[in-house]
Amino acid sequence: MRLLLATFLAFFCALTVHAVKREDFKECHQTSFCRRLRAIADKQAAKPDFTSPYSVSDPKRTPDTDGYSWTFPLHSALYPDVNFEMRVDLLEEGIVRVRADEVNSPSGLQRYNETAKWVFQGEPRIAKDGADVKNEADITTIKYGKDKELELDIVHKPLQITMKRNGKPQVVFNERSLFHVEHYRKQVEKPAEGGEDVKVEEGEEQVVFQNGDEIDRSWFETDDKDMFKETWRKWTDSKPKGPEGLSVDFTFPGVEHVFGLPEHASPLSLPSTVGEDSYYKEPYRLWNVDIFEYEADSPMALYGAVPLIHAHSKHSTVGVLNLVASETWVDVAHDKDGVRTHWVSESGIVDFLILPGPRPVDLFEQYASLTGPAALPPHWATAYHQCRWNYNTQDEVIEVQDEFDKADMPLDVTWLDIEYAPHHRYFDWNKASFPDPPKMLDDVASKGRKMVAIVDPHIKREDSFRIYSDAKGLDVLIKRADGENFDGWCWPGSSVWVDFFNPKSWEWWTRMFSFPVWTDSTPALYIWNDMNEPSVFDGPEITMPKDNRHVGGWEHRDLHNLNGMMFHNQTQAAITVRESTPKRPFVLSRSFFAGSQRYGAVWIGDNLGTWAHLAGEAAVFLSNSVAGISFVGSDVGGFFGNPSTEILTRWYQAGAFMPFFRAHAHIDTKRREPYLFPEPVKSQLRDVLRLRYQMLPLWYNAFHDAATKGHPVIWPQYAYHPTDTKGFAIDDQYYVGQSGLLFKPVVTEGATETSVYLADNEPYYDYFTHTVYPASSKPRNVTIATPIDRFPLLIQGGHIFPTRERVRRSSPLMWQDPYTLTVAIGRDGTAKGELYSDDGETFAWQEGEIVHAQYTYEKGVLSSRHKGEWRKDNAWAKKIAHVGVERVIILGAKKAPKSVKIAGEEVQFAYEKPQGGKAGTITIKNPPVKIVDEWEIVIA
Ligand code: NOJ
Repeated sequence: MRLLLATFLAFFCALTVHAVKREDFKECHQTSFCRRLRAIADKQAAKPDFTSPYSVSDPKRTPDTDGYSWTFPLHSALYPDVNFEMRVDLLEEGIVRVRADEVNSPSGLQRYNETAKWVFQGEPRIAKDGADVKNEADITTIKYGKDKELELDIVHKPLQITMKRNGKPQVVFNERSLFHVEHYRKQVEKPAEGGEDVKVEEGEEQVVFQNGDEIDRSWFETDDKDMFKETWRKWTDSKPKGPEGLSVDFTFPGVEHVFGLPEHASPLSLPSTVGEDSYYKEPYRLWNVDIFEYEADSPMALYGAVPLIHAHSKHSTVGVLNLVASETWVDVAHDKDGVRTHWVSESGIVDFLILPGPRPVDLFEQYASLTGPAALPPHWATAYHQCRWNYNTQDEVIEVQDEFDKADMPLDVTWLDIEYAPHHRYFDWNKASFPDPPKMLDDVASKGRKMVAIVDPHIKREDSFRIYSDAKGLDVLIKRADGENFDGWCWPGSSVWVDFFNPKSWEWWTRMFSFPVWTDSTPALYIWNDMNEPSVFDGPEITMPKDNRHVGGWEHRDLHNLNGMMFHNQTQAAITVRESTPKRPFVLSRSFFAGSQRYGAVWIGDNLGTWAHLAGEAAVFLSNSVAGISFVGSDVGGFFGNPSTEILTRWYQAGAFMPFFRAHAHIDTKRREPYLFPEPVKSQLRDVLRLRYQMLPLWYNAFHDAATKGHPVIWPQYAYHPTDTKGFAIDDQYYVGQSGLLFKPVVTEGATETSVYLADNEPYYDYFTHTVYPASSKPRNVTIATPIDRFPLLIQGGHIFPTRERVRRSSPLMWQDPYTLTVAIGRDGTAKGELYSDDGETFAWQEGEIVHAQYTYEKGVLSSRHKGEWRKDNAWAKKIAHVGVERVIILGAKKAPKSVKIAGEEVQFAYEKPQGGKAGTITIKNPPVKIVDEWEIVIA
């Protein structure tokens, strides 16, 4: 009987189809502002010569600014009595900021205008000189940029703004006349036909004439019935402010590709969402949600949102950041003239920024100048993390550590999901299963390791729970529309949520993580913020009602997409100050917004353990990365399901090349820690883990670039090779930082070979075999054998990168191990690279306590030079003064050297000549050089 039942269950489980519940989430037509505002585009398509009713006049220098900032009265011919104002700022980095809002509204209402406050790192600086400005009756022209190559044309009537480079339009705002701001209005009663009363907006239908067109208001606002109250399934949104939507269009002439707009499980080069043959039928949606079993290819909203788009051609790149934190839908349409985009949002002011490029790398830096570069993570956080829902006892945690050690597999971090906390009251420990958390944490820490425990934003509504009673007492909880504390359902049952927009909550939240208060924590414990969209199980679309209230009276609808970031920010701030010498925090967040990179890592949520998910993930990482969210990864193995060992192995290989490398699994899945598998799987997984540890130095270089320059940690083809048109749409392979390492995950079952695209005229060397794929002036595909323990990992010629070949049980234990330098000689016979190192955990790096060596190889000389910003007598350099180089490998050496000398002294070397497709290789073992020193190795 039991056997029968088991067979039945196994059969049933095999049949279970994992699929998103589409009905839990809205499509555009189910949300009234989207329906109304998206329809404008359809009408415009049917009548393309329609001109915008919006115009500006009479620009004045913005009061209280002494730079390039103008304020324009803005009018809509449809609403002559409504006053709008538009402000244009030219910022120092050549970024243009445009804001528009309704002014002097008789309603007395103010649209949400604080998105920028939370997104920007500091107030952007308005440029004061270097531009030529011409104000004419119908156009304002600003020439700017280093060589005045940029031009902003603000056409007054109808309103249109064009940014040009060298006379060529790069981006046009309101090119399609879709710009519209729904002004505040009163609701009035009107008798409906048939006798029943319906509520419609105030005022008569008004017909206006412009450029010979007859337009009435219904062109923009067709949908009366849901403007003031909206019901979807069992939820009614009271919409106290009535309609307040925004519609903006940006056209990117002459480009074929747009990128960004995370987070979606879609290709990196965003396909069309409109037109009969469009790839997607729905717009890309930005509305942070807890989406269960999401699809591997879909424009549906996921957990995070960055309203940033890059438009790229081989001639230039331009970016638009549309600073709106309310629900937003974006249509993308490709045609022969370029890419048109249409953005509709539910509320907020108009606030967009045009980032001039011209190269993707410039965009990264310009975006970071606004929103800040990524935080430099603690070094250990770049190593391997082992998670599962759940490790259930203290003993189990220790057992997992021991098993990793026994299997000789490195591990840095063990994670605890929600079951450590009794009744999901985070901060408390279930003492039956975790009797002595500090002891457990100390045991873990004694091996150089750390732990991460989850602290979710929902708080159990139970008076005996101190977090609840404190927050209630402080009056910092998110409120319902009627002003009472909102309660909803989540893991603990009935729960409340702290309003992290309220500064009153900050100091208190920080205190909750301090050691005197959280006595069961230690410096080895770091934090995971999940469910922070926020996830509310009994709420509309599994989140909070839009008419909930935050501090200042703002509605949740206005700032929903910022919510997760606010929580993430406060948690990382709390972790930073726990110790007297502040440590770099580590907090993982599921939800994010523009600027979240300042606060830590994200992962892409509840993926499925299927080939389709594995295959789609690189594109998601890349799209997050180009929008600043560069410390990103996925649940290795897939959150749901029991992957075969083949897919698991391939996922570990992919994981070892994700910026954030963590295995995680749902509570119902079979255990799958890497040490559990029989040979040869176990060894294959071990090798992959070890590879990540060996490569930590080059990952750290990339993280340092992200933290100092705002560069992504992983680079897509279009950003790395911005003029190679054939590579623009490629999103299944990528480069790690500027190390020259090109990686492609194997994502199909039974793959014995994999094709890799090489864009440039450089040789590429196989990392494992040293097979060389010669330089060629033409882009080409090369085929690489990928038996289960191999995957494409190539080194682009022209690079030098550091690795550490001796792997220990955790990364902090490797701090004084010697490095290996691999020189991959480029087509012109040269190579360069770097090694960045610091204490890995404090902020001393910002005070110059670093080692930053710069390597070049030229004319047979490999040299190490200091990079400008550090001195050899700093504390870190002194501490690692004894650390040397144990091996130099030079790939692409065509002939055997006669001698290798350091400071005039000959040193031993081995030479392998080019043979059977392999590169000629010089290996120098134990050269007497230290990484803190400047030196030369002369190969004659
Ligand atoms: C949802 C998260 O996405 C998942 O990673 C976690 O295991 C569960 N919540 C339980 O905390």
